[in-house]
Amino acid sequence: MNTQTESFLAETPADWAEVGREHPHESAVAHVCGSATYTDDLPELRGTLHGALGLSQRAHARVRAMDLDAVRAAYGVVAVLTAADIPGVNDCGPIIHDDPILADGLVQYIGQPMFIVIADSHDAARRAARLAKVDYEDLPAILTPQAAKAAQSFVLPPMQLKRGDAQEALERAPHIIRGELYVGGQEQFYLEGQISYAVPQENHGMLVQCSTQHPSEMMHVVAHALGLSSHHVRVECRRMGGGFGGKESQSALWAAAAAIAAKRTGRPVKLRADRDDDMMVTGKRHCFHYEYELGHDDEGRILGAKIEMVSRAGYSADLSGPVATRAVCHFDNAYYLSDVDIRAMCGKTNTQSNTAFRGFGGPQGAIAVEYLIDEVARNLGRDPLDIRKLNFYGRNEEEGRNTTPYGQKVEDNVLHELVGQLEADSDYRARREAIRKFNATSPVLKRGLALTPVKFGIAFNVNHLNQAGALVHVYVDGSVLVNHGGTEMGQGLNTKVMQVVAHELGVSLERVRISATDTTKIANTSATAASTGADLNGKAAQDAARQIRARLAEFAAQRHGGAAADVRFAGDRVHVNGEVHPFAEIVAQAYLARVQLWSDGFYATPNLSWDSKTMTGHPFSYYAYGAAVSEVVVDTLTGEWKLVRADGLYDAGNSLNPAIDIGQVEGGFIQGMGWLTTEELWWNDAGKLMTHAPSTYKIPAVSDCPEAFSMRLFKNSNVTDSIHRSKATGEPPLLLPFSVFFAIRDAIASVGENRINPPLQAPATSEAILDAIEAVRAAR
Ligand code: MTE
Ligand code: MOS
Repeated sequence: MNTQTESFLAETPADWAEVGREHPHESAVAHVCGSATYTDDLPELRGTLHGALGLSQRAHARVRAMDLDAVRAAYGVVAVLTAADIPGVNDCGPIIHDDPILADGLVQYIGQPMFIVIADSHDAARRAARLAKVDYEDLPAILTPQAAKAAQSFVLPPMQLKRGDAQEALERAPHIIRGELYVGGQEQFYLEGQISYAVPQENHGMLVQCSTQHPSEMMHVVAHALGLSSHHVRVECRRMGGGFGGKESQSALWAAAAAIAAKRTGRPVKLRADRDDDMMVTGKRHCFHYEYELGHDDEGRILGAKIEMVSRAGYSADLSGPVATRAVCHFDNAYYLSDVDIRAMCGKTNTQSNTAFRGFGGPQGAIAVEYLIDEVARNLGRDPLDIRKLNFYGRNEEEGRNTTPYGQKVEDNVLHELVGQLEADSDYRARREAIRKFNATSPVLKRGLALTPVKFGIAFNVNHLNQAGALVHVYVDGSVLVNHGGTEMGQGLNTKVMQVVAHELGVSLERVRISATDTTKIANTSATAASTGADLNGKAAQDAARQIRARLAEFAAQRHGGAAADVRFAGDRVHVNGEVHPFAEIVAQAYLARVQLWSDGFYATPNLSWDSKTMTGHPFSYYAYGAAVSEVVVDTLTGEWKLVRADGLYDAGNSLNPAIDIGQVEGGFIQGMGWLTTEELWWNDAGKLMTHAPSTYKIPAVSDCPEAFSMRLFKNSNVTDSIHRSKATGEPPLLLPFSVFFAIRDAIASVGENRINPPLQAPATSEAILDAIEAVRAAR
């Protein structure tokens, strides 16, 4: 960007701001009217066929023979394809290539796709898929992360981050806690299931309409599977009905299978997953098992910690490596840990290949340290909030205690102020006292309270992913079309990017439109993930818009006099040389004068570094902060509980759109609460996931939201030069409901006069709560 365009920004009238305003989601009206098109709503072309996947019924087995005659003969079936029918490479793994599209001789989990049925209708394809006769030779299966660790069965080499001397610190520490913790996984449960619609094009081309967070990756996978080059494949996604990480790599199977079927039949093929199939086939949030040792002083200050975590990676690597890395880099959460030894392993299990889910391992890393602090506080008979505060990172360089175990400095720690404000506004101390009194006289119902903080690093840990492109078109009538590499999954990314462009061009939002994400418009995009959507694509779109504005300013000054640097764009008008012209008029004049009215834009996040061997560097562009305080009431006879009240404060920096950001904070809170409480994934002894539909898998409903629910934004501005100094809001709020889990644990602890640490595991289902109550009673 040149200095000339910078000066325009400075001179944009202060009363003109399309950013920072509470615009509704760009598709809000279409969402509620049912006119927003999702992939399955696109008009089907003549001759469209429908696919279904034939799934493995064994967790780990060699396939001796597969008899598909009955499938082929079934009503409506047009073709049945196996691994041998894949024209190119049989792989859809995102990083390590250990993910077959169709199992070839070996099945590694119940639900693994083995063949594709293509039929006249979705229903016919599904019915036929069940008619396969498969002769399996069973092999031993590993089903849990603990079993994987015991067998040293990993999808990747273990990783370790060490700072100081944890062993020595533990030996010196006056108090030690040791133990184990299990935190379950989570199904993404996007409302729109996985879907791809592949349409053959001329000259070997393939168009894939796909519900995906990562169109470029879908393009690569489809090209490889078909034996084509990237330029043959076009992937488009207007919007997803939720992704939550589940459509980052896991959409690849559906894109590839639909494209293979379209290629082999020469006809358009739609592959839409039924909910049960979606849950049986696709990966989820990794469950984690932890073994820990922590030393602390009499005050509760952490002196040293050792933790070993093993995740359930599933049968292939998928994104388990980056998820484990983020878990390691978030074990510190808000706390300064001088001497630590953090190890992480990705257990290879005969289950679905686990993947990204909002927070991407960050929640799994951070909940462990919160669990430990909770124990320290109870052992010392102190309020956990005080122990948390005692261990917070320093505010900045001057205060010290501000270097993370991986070496990045925490330069803007606002948690002291943020937590202080939340503590005061929520009447934390008074309620703590009221709860103590309530519990003393209430034998069955017990109340609990907890306040937990969040610090979350923003950027992809892998440097090269932190780049983005955009394309802005100004048409002759003054209307504006924006494209960028990000995808819309409900989070409001498009709305934010439209605001950024409208702001730069000084036009109202109504003048700006955004269309589908398309690999033929923006090349080599990153997944919309790691909460970086607005940071990356907002900056890229800003770059494009500024170039157009600079050209328009140059032209306006030439035509109407004055200096280009003095031209201002605001309120759909152009202010030039003391005159005011409608934006559309200047645009029309510029067109006739042959000025380029469209531009590309690019952004690469500066100052990032990461050494994956030592696990050190500066992996994050900045940190987002937040905290929440939750109060629950638990029925100690049934294990039922209710969230009575939740208050949260989240640091969205200079929010681009406070309404959308609050929506993200509220949604993230409730989704994270589901993960830690009612959402339980359960596999039977044969390795079959038995919770594969909403009938057995309980996500929060509107009735689970507390009556008193107050999520607010903390007033702040990003110290890093992010887009308009905003901060990401996509993932970090998912960690806010740690407060719900620890409030439940607090309520349970009151059964043992708050002296015994309830061995509560996550999810805190009613059964888990009752088990923990039993254990506390037994230890009393
Ligand atoms: N919000 C909605 N409504 N739907 C989603 O699928 N995904 C989350 C979060 N918020 C999601 C969402 C996840 S996992 C991420 S990484 C971010 O949005 C991605 O979008 P962003 O980078 O634009 O915030
Ligand atoms: Mo989000 S888990 O990074 O897609």
